[in-house]
Parts: sequence; C-alpha cells; structure tokens
Amino acid sequence: MAEDANVDQKKRRFLIGATTAVGGIGAVAAAVPFAMSFWPSERAKAAGAPIEVDISKLEPGQKINVEWRGKVVWVINRTPEMLKALPKLDPVLADPASNYSQQPADCKNGHRSIKPEIFVAVGICTHLGCSPTYRPEVAPPDLGADWLGGFFCPCHQSKFDLAARVYRGVPAPTNLVIPPYKYLSDIKIQVGAAGAAA
Ligand code: FES
Repeated sequence: MAEDANVDQKKRRFLIGATTAVGGIGAVAAAVPFAMSFWPSERAKAAGAPIEVDISKLEPGQKINVEWRGKVVWVINRTPEMLKALPKLDPVLADPASNYSQQPADCKNGHRSIKPEIFVAVGICTHLGCSPTYRPEVAPPDLGADWLGGFFCPCHQSKFDLAARVYRGVPAPTNLVIPPYKYLSDIKIQVGAAGAAA
C-alpha cells in the first residue's frame, strides 16, 4: 500500500511537470507571431524601409548605385573642382535654384545636398524614366566644350549638371529627384529617412 502511494505521488508530479511544460511552449508559440507582427517583413522592407549606405570608401569623383524602394539611387563623392563648376552652369539651367519640389528642404541649396561633397539622387530621368549616364569628364568630344561634368540621358539627350539640375531646352521637364536622407555618422548615411544634417 505504501508502495502504491509512492508511485501515485511520482505520477502526479510527472503529470504536473508535463502540463506546465506544454503550457509554456504554447505560450511561447502564441507570443512569437504576436511579436513578429511588430517587425517589418522582408517584403515591407524592400517596399519602403530606409537603407543604410557606407560612404567611407567612396573615392573622390566615384559614384555608387544603391537601391531604395525599387529605384536606383546614386551616391557620389564630388570633388572640389566639381563643386566649383556648379554655379558656372546656372545660366544654362532650367531651374538652377531648385524651385520645383524635387528635393527635401535640407537639400534646397546650390549643391542640392546636405554636405556639399556627398551627392545623393534618384537616378531616373524626369522625362520618360531612363537612367542617365554619369559623365563627370570636362569637355568630352560628344558633349561639347561647354560640358563641365554631369549626367546625360541617352534616351532623348536630356542633360543635367553634377547637382542633377536639368539644362534648358531638353525633353526632361525638371531636375532629378533628391530622396530624403540623413547622416547616421560621418561615414554612414540613411536613405529614405529625413532628418537634420549631422
Ligand atoms: S527619358 Fe531621359 S531624355 Fe527621355
């Protein structure tokens, strides 16, 4: 009899332990989808989440392409010579002061960027959506002696300067779009999230 009581006692302890463990697993299983619903899915991230770009290895004059919201975004490290050329082109541009709303407020300036040297723009022509070519060289034979560097759209020959400001008399109606971005540090920017300059 004493032995039976001992067995019953052990069985009860086992059943209580097992029930608690199953209950715990159930609670975790229920909590996971709940917590996951607060995090953006990969699809949501691809659709619109900001992206970080390391600019620490960007050489003077170099352009890199990144993708944000399915669009190509250029990041360029403009040289002092490139920046010096910008105001010289004002007379041949359609909107040199960037009066159309094609950039965030902190990029509405002569260089259309937060810091003068680092330039960020959506690389899509405002005419019919081709991707203009980066042509940083000065006076190449095909673009003429007045060319001081910029972007050339091969589809219908629209021209933009190195701040992506459109020339007068070309098919593209406006300057290229500058996306919202901010500096996370001196070597990292975040495209897609507006913020004050660092
Ligand atoms: S798409 Fe660029 S000029 Fe037409």
